Amino acid sequence: MDPKIKALQEKIAEAHLGGGEKRIEKQHQKKKLTARERVLYFLDEGSFEEMGLLVTHRTTDFGMDKEMYYGDGVVTGYGTVNGRLVYVYAQDFTVFGGALSETHAEKICKVMDLAMKVGAPVIGLNDSGGARIQEGVKSLGGYADIFYRNVQASGVIPQISAIMGPCAGGAVYSPAMTDFIIMVEGTSYMFVTGPNVVKTVTNETVTSEELGGASTHAVKSGVAHKTSANDATCLDDIRNLLDYLPQNNKKTTPLLPYELGDETRDELSGIVPDNPNKPYDMHDVISGIIDTDSFYEIHKDYAENIITGFARLGGRSIGIIANQPMFLAGVLDVNSSTKAARFTRFCDSFNIPLLVLVDVPGFLPGTDQEWSGIIMHGAKLLYALSEATVPRVTVITRKAYGGAYDVMNSKHIGADFNFAWPSAEIAVMGAKGASEIIFRKEIAAADNPEAKLKEKEAEYADKFANPYRAAKRGFIDEVILPKDTRSKLLKTFAMLEKKEVQTPWKKHGNIPL
Ligand code: COA
Repeated sequence: MDPKIKALQEKIAEAHLGGGEKRIEKQHQKKKLTARERVLYFLDEGSFEEMGLLVTHRTTDFGMDKEMYYGDGVVTGYGTVNGRLVYVYAQDFTVFGGALSETHAEKICKVMDLAMKVGAPVIGLNDSGGARIQEGVKSLGGYADIFYRNVQASGVIPQISAIMGPCAGGAVYSPAMTDFIIMVEGTSYMFVTGPNVVKTVTNETVTSEELGGASTHAVKSGVAHKTSANDATCLDDIRNLLDYLPQNNKKTTPLLPYELGDETRDELSGIVPDNPNKPYDMHDVISGIIDTDSFYEIHKDYAENIITGFARLGGRSIGIIANQPMFLAGVLDVNSSTKAARFTRFCDSFNIPLLVLVDVPGFLPGTDQEWSGIIMHGAKLLYALSEATVPRVTVITRKAYGGAYDVMNSKHIGADFNFAWPSAEIAVMGAKGASEIIFRKEIAAADNPEAKLKEKEAEYADKFANPYRAAKRGFIDEVILPKDTRSKLLKTFAMLEKKEVQTPWKKHGNIPL
């Protein structure tokens, strides 16, 4: 064999081994795939084209010049997912624990720059011990180069982060600025400072898993949008997520083929209970509306009083925001407002139409909420929906009370089409609370105050616990039977397809943060 060809082949073989057999074995023992295995599993078979396979670090301190690995701890390149171009980088824990060096960062920046020029998503597979300690500030500079690009790319191309091992210190801020974070259960964690520093500073004893494991971030902090059981399901989950997204902010998500048939859905009729205080699962409403099994939930276990996620409706990708009466009666609070606001902004950035399903008794009262800034956080959702220019359609299934009525994609803040079911109650508040306030004196003076309250409650409910006052004023475009919801929405979103809105020039708005 030509010695030059042989030399190249040897280099490639060496590069493919990353940090070597022993470390690969260790990675497998931890139930983790290697960076290369992840990339190859993630992309369509045979589509991966690697960049920078032969890059090595440039450090000479601490004897580092004697420890070189091709690729320098990150596998980068491009390929396809279901035939669509994506850019990918995967940190290789077998090389210096996937720690980020100057050259490692340069490789990541290179794919991000290309992704921006071409207009395609970037997927980062994170598994790293953080800044390459032997490089000091060069490594910190490398992080900041990535952060800066994350921000420039925000709202231009979709950015998705998988956390598949450690992700600590400065490393957390690149994923944090991407659109979605998916964490692998049991093998990944994210925190700004680890358990040892926490112990020293606050004297708390906590494990890595408790402090920043997948379930902590999926349930408590909301940092993670989703968790996956293992590496393979995490990569499958990202592939599925990409199906709902366009390539960039100038494109729309490709339509899936769909032939209209009988779109009546009788099962939607029996979901809302007669008793307005009885909960029901809004997921049943969602399933009755969307294409079969097409719901991809985001933040499933965080702020469960609001549901957010992507779905297909007649093959069209849409974003859904829905109050969930099963949790806290579907109230808006700090976390649910922030969750829905962020989701709204993602959909609006990437031309994904929004469907808002409303059953909201108002904002959650109490010192905890007020002192946590519900005014500011609730305003985020109001702001995000008001500024969204994608097609926006609302269906009020039951309660739409008070300020929360306005916030939940009301006509007044720019929704394009507002439906209500006959069970809708569009009012300032529930009949009991309202009667207690406005008929207080009358009730107190009555021989039987309880009976009087009941009478007044019924009177108020008769007047306001329905959708017709709002429909009379045009705040509701149509009151529809639940079973017709899907067919109505299919037509409405098709009608809105070419919606265009000119907004006043501004550098950017000042959303309450
Ligand atoms: N810089 C350089 N090398 C690093 C590194 C870093 N930040 N983090 C890990 N490594 C190296 C280790 O020296 C080790 O090298 P070896 O294979 O030659 O023995 C290898 O990566 C694996 O690390 P190890 O500690 O054996 O793995 P682990 O699974 O037991 O622990 C960590 C993983 C991330 C918890 C641990 O390595 C760690 O605490 N790293 C430092 C984190 C940090 O403080 N980063 C800097 C600030 S952001």
